[in-house]
Amino acid sequence: MEELHSLDPRRQELLEARFLGGVSGNTAGSTGSASGGTKVSAYDKNSKKDSLCGVQFQGGNGSSPVRGLPPVIRSPQNSHSPSAPGSSVRHTLFSLVQTVSPNPIEIRSYLDSLNANKLHEIRFVQICFELHLYVVWNPISGNPFQSDRSDRIYNKNLDLEKKEGRIDDLLRANCDLRRQIDEQQKLLEKYKERLNMCITMSKKLLIEKVKLTLAEYHEQEEIFKLRLGHLKKEEAEIQAELERLERVRNLHIRELKRINNEDSSQFKDHPTLNERYLLLHLLGRGGFSEVYKAFDLTEQRYAAVKIHQLNKNWREEKKENYHKHACREYRIHKQLDHPRIVKLYDYFSLDTDTFCTVLEYCEGNDLDFYLKQHKLMSEKEARSIVMQIVNALRYLNEIKPPIIHYDLKPGNILLVDGNACGEIKITDFGLSKIMDDDSYGVDGMDLTSQGAGTYWYLPPECFVVGKEPPKISNKVDVWSVGVIFFQCLYGRKPFGHNQSQQDILQENTILKATEVQFPSKPVASNEAKAFIRRCLAYRKEDRFDVHQLGSDSYLLPHIRRASSSGALAPNSSSY
Ligand code: ADE
Repeated sequence: MEELHSLDPRRQELLEARFLGGVSGNTAGSTGSASGGTKVSAYDKNSKKDSLCGVQFQGGNGSSPVRGLPPVIRSPQNSHSPSAPGSSVRHTLFSLVQTVSPNPIEIRSYLDSLNANKLHEIRFVQICFELHLYVVWNPISGNPFQSDRSDRIYNKNLDLEKKEGRIDDLLRANCDLRRQIDEQQKLLEKYKERLNMCITMSKKLLIEKVKLTLAEYHEQEEIFKLRLGHLKKEEAEIQAELERLERVRNLHIRELKRINNEDSSQFKDHPTLNERYLLLHLLGRGGFSEVYKAFDLTEQRYAAVKIHQLNKNWREEKKENYHKHACREYRIHKQLDHPRIVKLYDYFSLDTDTFCTVLEYCEGNDLDFYLKQHKLMSEKEARSIVMQIVNALRYLNEIKPPIIHYDLKPGNILLVDGNACGEIKITDFGLSKIMDDDSYGVDGMDLTSQGAGTYWYLPPECFVVGKEPPKISNKVDVWSVGVIFFQCLYGRKPFGHNQSQQDILQENTILKATEVQFPSKPVASNEAKAFIRRCLAYRKEDRFDVHQLGSDSYLLPHIRRASSSGALAPNSSSY
């Protein structure tokens, strides 16, 4: 109520308008006259407003100042008709309020004098309250009491209504949204539940699937294993077929070469040499010789006739030298009689530049060709071949004078049956040395033909160059046996495998061959390796000789080998 003291005339005008239901004509900024029509109009507006407010009041929450107007003010009877009961009181009240400085105490006392007419007081209080609230509520304050203030209040109210409507709409929308959110949340919960269920189900299914996959895997693995085995078998068969075809191809190549050589040979037309040997076909060709298969008309057997043909352009001295050499070979070989050595039957000359040696004929091929065809062989087969060679060497060292073959190599080992499990015969004594008393001392004999031979198979001492020629012994042949055995087992030469003769010489390959290295595959017995080590001892002093080799436990029959190895310390004979 205190605010009423500060009410200026314009506020009072508002109060009047509220109280009387009209607007006074002297109100600042008022455009309309103080006619009843205007009042009615103002009332109407207020009535509408109040009516509106009334509605709001009835249904509102009382927070709006307009809504705070009680219905009694809205009554047209109370506000519209001047003759309505209590109108004089209102006029008095109005005049009291209308003063420049309305005094609420005065107004109060007036009201008290009215015997505290509750109704009037209430109305007044309501008016004051409205006015007060209006002042308080209207924050514009610039000039709130202009002539159109009621309109603005009305408009404000309308705006508020709209806003409230919008707020209500928004609230409703909000409620809707809330409901929707709640619904969505419920759905989400359900979805989560379902999802969890699905995950659990999926896990179960996955486990099942994994089980299935594992089962399928095992099934496939079995199939693949079988297939792999089958493929391996097929691959082995194909490989074997490939090797077979390669062998056939080699045979064809060799045959082509042979035919070619035969076609260019002067003995191709099957002459009968020395009126005894009918030449059948060419077996092979060397540097200065051709070997023909022939039929011995006298002995009625097959023979191998080796025709040595000297180069016509050679000097006589060289021709003589060659001839001397051939005669020497013949003399050495002619005396040999051993099942493991090719027999030399005959010797004769055709002319000054041509002479022939007649040899025991051997069907089959040499070991060189076999190794070219098969690469390697089993240890048993290799051992058998080695055993036969060693036996031949033993023989060569038991005869007087003993013989060093000096050119032991696969090309000079003939396989009688053409395979590795048959008999062998050693041939070609062209480089052999006779260890007679004149030439052979305690430390061996001089190597007169240094540089001759096939280097892969010769021991280090043959490559030593010095003032004096190196001393050699039958240990040269022992070294060769070791190399041949190694090659039969592993399919490669132990020293200078991929080197040429020249490279071996230039790079001192054999002089560096201090220790033999064994491949891990194919697997060979330790005994075989030990035997090879004994053959390939770098220093000839450490190497077995032919006699020692002949009695080596490795070459003994199995039963004897087992008993002797049990009785003796390992390799006691060798070390
Ligand atoms: N080639 C060389 N010498 C041979 C022989 N004695 N038998 C068969 N072919 C040979």
